[in-house]
Amino acid sequence: MSSFDYFRIRLSTVRAFEELPFDIYLQLDGKIITYLRMGESLTDTKITHLHNKDTGESFFVHNQHKQIYRDYVKSSMNSDKISNDEKAVILRESSIAILEDLFETPDVARALEEAKPIITDLLSFMDNAPESIGNLISLTGHDFYTYNHSFDVSIYSLGLGQVLGMDKVTLEELGQSSLFHDIGKRNVPLEILCKKGALSEDEWFEMRQHPAYGLKILNAHENISDAVKAACYEHHESWTGGGYPQDISGHEIHPFGRIVALTDTYDAMTTQRSYNTPLKPTEALNMMKDKISGRFDPDMLNAMYSILFKMEKDQAS
Ligand SMILES: [Fe+2]
Repeated sequence: MSSFDYFRIRLSTVRAFEELPFDIYLQLDGKIITYLRMGESLTDTKITHLHNKDTGESFFVHNQHKQIYRDYVKSSMNSDKISNDEKAVILRESSIAILEDLFETPDVARALEEAKPIITDLLSFMDNAPESIGNLISLTGHDFYTYNHSFDVSIYSLGLGQVLGMDKVTLEELGQSSLFHDIGKRNVPLEILCKKGALSEDEWFEMRQHPAYGLKILNAHENISDAVKAACYEHHESWTGGGYPQDISGHEIHPFGRIVALTDTYDAMTTQRSYNTPLKPTEALNMMKDKISGRFDPDMLNAMYSILFKMEKDQAS
């Protein structure tokens, strides 16, 4: 059996001291070995052992058990014994593990399709309680792997879409679009993507091709909507013009392009990367409003303010 028969999970999504309805595997030296069998449970000893060992979180479940795992996560999300904070962690960790795999698959249409339940789960969690968006946002920004960043951008975009009054179907499409907005970065060489420090002029030129690369990737698949393509192709355009690749402005830019421009920049500014100190939410928003305000749709920027201020108020009360 190859590792393609398995999908990645995070152990933080597994409830301790409960019989497992699926087997969990571990990858060691390139081999998949059984870690916990169905019917066994995660115990203190196992948890302590893992914490001491820092295994890099490469745990897997067999593809045959994908639905069982999804139902298991869903039952955690519906449990009244689990706090909203814990639920936000479970939702985030289960989604990101799936995204790690989806971001590597060449079949983008399948990836978009399989990402749908992630967005549906996010939306139902956000609908569930007014403070849920705050629970989710409090977990964003710890590191800058593409899938974490894209997931965080989706959370902010969905929050923004809700405040802007988008209906559920539009929100689902917005969530998908936000997850895959940077898909064109697949075609940018890793040494440029991961370079620490300033890029040369040629490297910047290459980096700025990613919206066009993304559009080409999406165009190669049938049934991908124009809105998903617009978020990918137009998220580096500027409200007052001067962005790339088309240098369009204002309402010429698709709303999804305008939303992702804002949420992508905000998340990048507030996220810890190896070479920067992250800004606090208000510092980032003030900078966006004062120094680079021309980049963003002013109504959307105000809506973003309202989400973050509401969150601060909820957390204070
Ligand atoms: Fe981008």
